[in-house]
Parts: sequence; C-alpha cells; structure tokens
Amino acid sequence: MAQLLIRGLAQLATPAGTDAPLRGADLGRVDVVENAYVLCGDDGRIVATGAMADLGGLDGDVEELDAGGFCAIPGLVDCHTHPAFGGDRVEEFSLRAGGASYEELHAAGGGILSTVRATRAAGEDGLRVAVECHAEWMLRHGTTTWEGKSGYGLDRDTELASLRAVAAAGGVPTWLGAHAVPPEHADADAYLAFALAEVLPQAARIANAADVFLERGAFDAAQARRYLGACAQAGLALRLHGDQFTESGAIPLAIELGARSVDHLEATGPDGVAQLAASEVTGVLLPASALFLGRPMPPGRALVDAGAAVALATDFNPGSAFTTSLPLVCSLAATQLQLSPAEALGAMTVNAAHVLGRGDEVGRLAPGYRADVVLLDAPDWRYLAYHLAGDVVAAVIRDGRVAYRR
Ligand code: NIG
Ligand code: FE
Repeated sequence: MAQLLIRGLAQLATPAGTDAPLRGADLGRVDVVENAYVLCGDDGRIVATGAMADLGGLDGDVEELDAGGFCAIPGLVDCHTHPAFGGDRVEEFSLRAGGASYEELHAAGGGILSTVRATRAAGEDGLRVAVECHAEWMLRHGTTTWEGKSGYGLDRDTELASLRAVAAAGGVPTWLGAHAVPPEHADADAYLAFALAEVLPQAARIANAADVFLERGAFDAAQARRYLGACAQAGLALRLHGDQFTESGAIPLAIELGARSVDHLEATGPDGVAQLAASEVTGVLLPASALFLGRPMPPGRALVDAGAAVALATDFNPGSAFTTSLPLVCSLAATQLQLSPAEALGAMTVNAAHVLGRGDEVGRLAPGYRADVVLLDAPDWRYLAYHLAGDVVAAVIRDGRVAYRR
C-alpha cells in the first residue's frame, strides 16, 4: 500500500491541541492552515500535515490526490446511532406530522415496539444488510467512526445478532438491552431479570458499552441502576438516554456510576447543567432528534459555558431521528444550540471520539491520528455548518484510502 498525499487543499481545519475531551474555550479552538496538504502513511495513520509551501520531497511510493481547492476536516465521529433495525416508521411519521405525539404512539404499542416486531422478523441476514446500508449512508455524510446500538431485538438472539451486525459493518457496538419492555415480559423488572441473566454474558463479549432508556414509560432510575451496575461488572462502559422528556435522575446516576455519557438532555434544567459540568461525564446532544420530534432543544450553550464536556451525534433511528447526517447536526448546533461552527466541529470529532474511548486515535488531522479525512466542496470549512442540508461532502478518506467519492 502506498502513502496518500492529499494536496492543494484550500484549508485544513482541525481541533487544536491534543486533549480529549475539550471543554469551555478549548472546544472552540480550531487550527486552520490555508493552501494545505495531508500526508497519509501506508499504515493508515497521518504522517504529516501543513502548508503546501512547506511540503518537502517525499520518499517511497506516493499516490497523489489533488484536492482542487476543497477543505479538509477530520473524519466525523457519530457516537450515538441506532442502525440495527428492520422496517421503517414512515406511517407513524405521517401520523405525528398530523398531530399525534411520540409518547402516545409508544404507549399504544407503536413506536419502539413496532420496530421491535420488524427487527425480530428481519433475521440476522436482514439485519446485516440493513446495518451495512446505514453505514454507507453515514460514510456519504463524512462519518468514519460510529457507534451502533442494539435495542430493537429485546430477545436474546436478535440483540446478539444486532451487535454482531454493527461490529461486522465496522461500528462500535453498544448493548441497549434496556430500551423498552417487550410484550412477552410482565413488567420492566421481569424483563431486566431475563436480559441480565440470558443476554448480558454474551452481549458483553461483543459490545463495548451498555445503554439504558431512563424515562417515564421505559425504565426508572432504580431499574437503570440495576441494569448498568450489572453491565459495569461485566466490563462494559456505561451510557444513558436521559432527560429526553423528563428529568428522571439520569445525570446524578451517570455521575454516580462513572458513565461515559448521558445523551439527549432536552429536558435538563440549570441544576443538571451545573452537575454535569462539574463531572467527568460527557453530555451528548442530539438536536436532530429534538427537531424531528418538534421538542425543545437541549441547552448546548449553557453546557459549554458551564464547562461541561459536550459531544454532538445524530441519534439515527427510524422513530425519532431518521437522519445519518452529521453536517445537518452541525448546522442545527449552530442555528439552534448557539454553538459556533468550531465548537460543533470539536463536539463531533474529538469529544465524540472520547465518548467511544478513542479520543487519542481519531478526531484530529495531526500526525499519529488515524488517516480519516473529509473533503468538503467549499471554500471555507465552516460551510459544514453554514450550508444548511447542503451536499458538502465531496470525498471521504478512511484509514488513508479513498472510501467515498461523490
Ligand atoms: O434515542 N429515546 C429512545 N430511543 C431512541 C428512539 C427510538 C425510537 O423511537 O425508535 C432515541 O430517540
Ligand atoms: Fe438514541
């Protein structure tokens, strides 16, 4: 394999420094090099970056990619997706568009449970095809590292098949064993007894993390503590879906258990903001989900100003956020969460990688980091946020190879 020289970039933009996660003013520090290059090594890592004027002679086999005035940013990191599902929810979407609420549909056996039925029916082969397809959609939007949750199987075989499908498609698998209570169990406690005894031992061999939906109508704080405690014992990192509709104790529980993240936060008030800011837990903001459901946006500006570690993700799923576009999320961060494009970039690269335990390896264009590069068809990298729903991704380089070209 040859080295790859990406030359003739209008700009190279990367979060500054070497730390992860980035907090406060550090989140908005982006280094920009005009008229730049990136040299990717034959080991799939970045060898060097800089201004074209400083590019010396190169040894060995070097393939060249003329970036023709495009801008380079790091490969984007989507740290919260639900790609392992069968079917769709276009019917429910249409009902919601006419006024029905997401929580009402869920309570009536629609919502998540309708996707559980379709996912069980898809079988392992069907799930693999679906996750491969969703991973390809992500790549076309510039995502080179992604997390994928199970959580639409909720029986042993379909949960394990979901985790295997995510791993096979190159994702980082998270066991969302506590997403909803499936109909064959009497209640949440009975379901958790089953999941922890029958699914966790094998799920822990495939997944990197465990996740729970802590919300009225799903799992309460005591049930979430029981589930996450057992998952931690089995060696999994911890994540929580929390404060999506109600503040139900997700932030204190995440802090108590040393979770990697608490995600959603649309309902988080000032006390939650202060608690999260004083902790090591990253707040993952999902503005596409708030937009899709017509819900309030999470307090992004307040969290960053208070010093919290904040990441951004799509929440890609069939019910509450049917999008794989981090560029769209970047635009929403700028227009709805009052984050600057630079803060949004740090939140969907370095800080998202940190949530996945990969902050030292992906998220920056700098020597030693993985050679994951997005080429933007734009004269300024901030078009990533500025071009609302724009078709900005011209090409994606993953591990030093061109993985997608428009
Ligand atoms: O993160 N909130 C819970 N889970 C998903 C949505 C699942 C669904 O509606 O299918 C979320 O928004
Ligand atoms: Fe989610």
